[in-house]
Amino acid sequence: MDVLDRFRLDVPVALAGMPGIAGGRLAAAVASAGGLATIGLMAPIELRAAVGWVRDEAPGRCVAVNLLMQFARRRHVQACVEAGVDVVVVSFGGDAALVRELRDAGVFVLVMVGTEDQAREAVTWGADGLIAQGREAGGHLVGTVAALEFLPRALAVARERPVFLAGGVATGADTAAALAAGAAAVVAGTRFVLTEESGAHREYQRRILAADKTLETTLFGLSWPARHRVVPNTVTDRWCRADGAARRLPALVNSLSAPLSRWAPENSESSVLRMQRAAIPLFSPAAPLEGMPEDWVDRAALYAGESALRINGVIPAKQAVAELAG
Ligand SMILES: Cc1cc2nc3c(=O)[nH]c(=O)nc-3n(C[C@H](O)[C@H](O)[C@H](O)COP(=O)(O)O)c2cc1C
Repeated sequence: MDVLDRFRLDVPVALAGMPGIAGGRLAAAVASAGGLATIGLMAPIELRAAVGWVRDEAPGRCVAVNLLMQFARRRHVQACVEAGVDVVVVSFGGDAALVRELRDAGVFVLVMVGTEDQAREAVTWGADGLIAQGREAGGHLVGTVAALEFLPRALAVARERPVFLAGGVATGADTAAALAAGAAAVVAGTRFVLTEESGAHREYQRRILAADKTLETTLFGLSWPARHRVVPNTVTDRWCRADGAARRLPALVNSLSAPLSRWAPENSESSVLRMQRAAIPLFSPAAPLEGMPEDWVDRAALYAGESALRINGVIPAKQAVAELAG
């Protein structure tokens, strides 16, 4: 499949869906620059507004939405269907009924996977395409090995379906390597966190740029004890071991809190982060966003992938898309 044609793109570059970071503003900038804009999960009413914003700012372009299944509800699915989005990226969960419902509504369904088993399952669900995530990616991880190592296995399972590569893509050379290895397109997260249109807190961006390593951890796992990649801050220094793993107390709290995600209110990031303290091992997945107090950056997850170490500055999204396209 020619993804440029299918998704009305100028370049085979997709923005990753990142809650609070990939909102309408960043998505519209990426779509206008010819890339595939994926809006991160947000309250359904805001989701509709963000889709509308992209359509107004980038008429004729495709709009994609990420359904982060740990927190997505029926109302999010309905919002995608009613807004007539072109693409939904299903991640961290999903099932055949969801994929069928979206496809019946004319939505192209991509499922993010990190293992061959997950890829096979997504194909059984009826996914139209896969996103193969590598372990070097920023944010939450399904990836278990490097993206370029996993890609051939995902391609073998996907057969004629397109496979996007996610993880470690920050330059045109990274994109070229992914395409040469058989990817239909690339998905970039960290590169777009570091753009002017990103919803990330400016101090969070500065911390990524200043970082000399990333950590794979489960520390920010309140209600969602899954692996994720961050750059260090005060709370990881205090509550993670040298290899990044959460110490015993936060790990125990996180595993006990797993059922809470079904009750997490929408838009709860700010109220949850307000209560987080470096001294108390209760760390939610919420990231620090623009408009929040600066000191919250030392109590929240600073998601970033290994490509953070190769990125030198915050640039306009249009430039990021052009650089990624090579
Ligand atoms: C700040 C941040 C938030 C993310 N949030 C989500 C999310 O809500 N849903 C999802 O499917 N992936 C999420 N991801 C992972 C991305 O989809 C993607 O796999 C990853 O960013 C690619 O690796 P890169 O960061 O090296 O570009 C997030 C990544 C980052 C950096």
